[in-house]
Amino acid sequence: MWGGRFSASPSALMEAINASIGFDRRMARQDIEGSLAHSDMLAVQGIITEADRDAIHDGLRRILEEIEAGTFPFRTELEDIHMNVENRLRELIGEAAGRLHTARSRNDQVALDVRLWVRDAHDRTEAQLGALLRALLQKAETHAATVMPGFTHLQSAQPVTFGHHMMAYVEMFGRDCARIRDSRARLNECPLGAAALAGTSFPVDRHRVANALGFDGPTRNSLDSVADRDSILEFLSTAAICAVHLSRLAEEIVIWMSAPFGFIRLPDRWTTGSSIMPQKRNPDAAELVRGKTGRVIGALVATATMMKGLALTYSKDMQEDKEQLFDAADTLEIALAAMTGMVEDLEPVPERMAALAGAGYATATDLADWLVRELGMPFRDAHHVTGRIVAEAERRGLGLEDLPLSIMQTVEPRITADVKAVLGVENSVRSRTSFGGTAPERVLEQVAWWRERL
Ligand code: ARG
Repeated sequence: MWGGRFSASPSALMEAINASIGFDRRMARQDIEGSLAHSDMLAVQGIITEADRDAIHDGLRRILEEIEAGTFPFRTELEDIHMNVENRLRELIGEAAGRLHTARSRNDQVALDVRLWVRDAHDRTEAQLGALLRALLQKAETHAATVMPGFTHLQSAQPVTFGHHMMAYVEMFGRDCARIRDSRARLNECPLGAAALAGTSFPVDRHRVANALGFDGPTRNSLDSVADRDSILEFLSTAAICAVHLSRLAEEIVIWMSAPFGFIRLPDRWTTGSSIMPQKRNPDAAELVRGKTGRVIGALVATATMMKGLALTYSKDMQEDKEQLFDAADTLEIALAAMTGMVEDLEPVPERMAALAGAGYATATDLADWLVRELGMPFRDAHHVTGRIVAEAERRGLGLEDLPLSIMQTVEPRITADVKAVLGVENSVRSRTSFGGTAPERVLEQVAWWRERL
């Protein structure tokens, strides 16, 4: 492609370190879309003839067919997808192919291709997040009143509902979805026309190309257009945050389906057996969703590190963006799909969760609140009294509800039989009616709010 200035071919090692066709072939469709729009604009502007444009379009469409059919002859010595396509175009249509690259550089071409690719990745991710949110909402609605232990420090804290717990993830994945929309809006500017870095002397119409490719408009600075990859970084950071969210839910699934917890059942299709222990059902899918998080965070770190310290504008370092992007997008895609399937299929075991919801004196706060409300005690004093009552119950190996009133009264004589009403887990949950609280009617309100937004 640049033989004019060179007298020797690259060494085999140079070819090996330089070639990106092994991975950037995944941008073939985007590359061809960009070339179709670019050549069309060149013809409209009178920079190439309509006959050449038609020949170029015809050739590009045949190439797309070859790529989709798997018959395209990818060649490593042609370095990357851009030169592979252009070279094939020359084989197919001859001389007119040489006019396609007028007013364009691979620098703005690759910036365009990768933006188109990452834009598609945004759209796929948003659709997948929508499916996950719907699955979570479904579970939340069904189990809005299913009591489970709520934890802090993984110690029983206060009873909550399974629906409320699902809705916590709705909030997290909802924010991931908002982040995706937000960065998609920011990336939707077309870099083509920046050429190598300075713009072009040809009378191009960048607005036309931007419009044809579904962008809101062209980028405003040619140097920035070829120099930055922050659209990738934004996708990767959202992907990394989302992967972290996924890994937490995955971890909970692992914990919940362990025998000592037994909070949920996960059907066989999401588990595997052990080659030695016949009784085992392992939550491998959840473990892998959790484990794959490292790859996504790694892609963000690798790409940010690669970009850091690069003087403007393009440097070949930036070719390293794609493998990270593709791997992170693939990883997130399978993790979101698997998680959505697991959420749809998991079956809570309400008896088990209710039994444990009251364990560990989880309604102690309700007792303290009762002392404040009914006896007018300052909360700090109520906290102390409750602590002593819990200690009495613990010494006798009893739950709070089973502790005789007379024992409670040895600690605080003003306590009456009415207190029993707040010590059960159902009552505890029903009483948490503050906005955003775990009371079933509050949970259902949030389900409705989210349904409307989806
Ligand atoms: N394969 C290159 C990349 O991914 C395309 C751009 C090459 N530009 C250049 N000036 N060598 O970044």
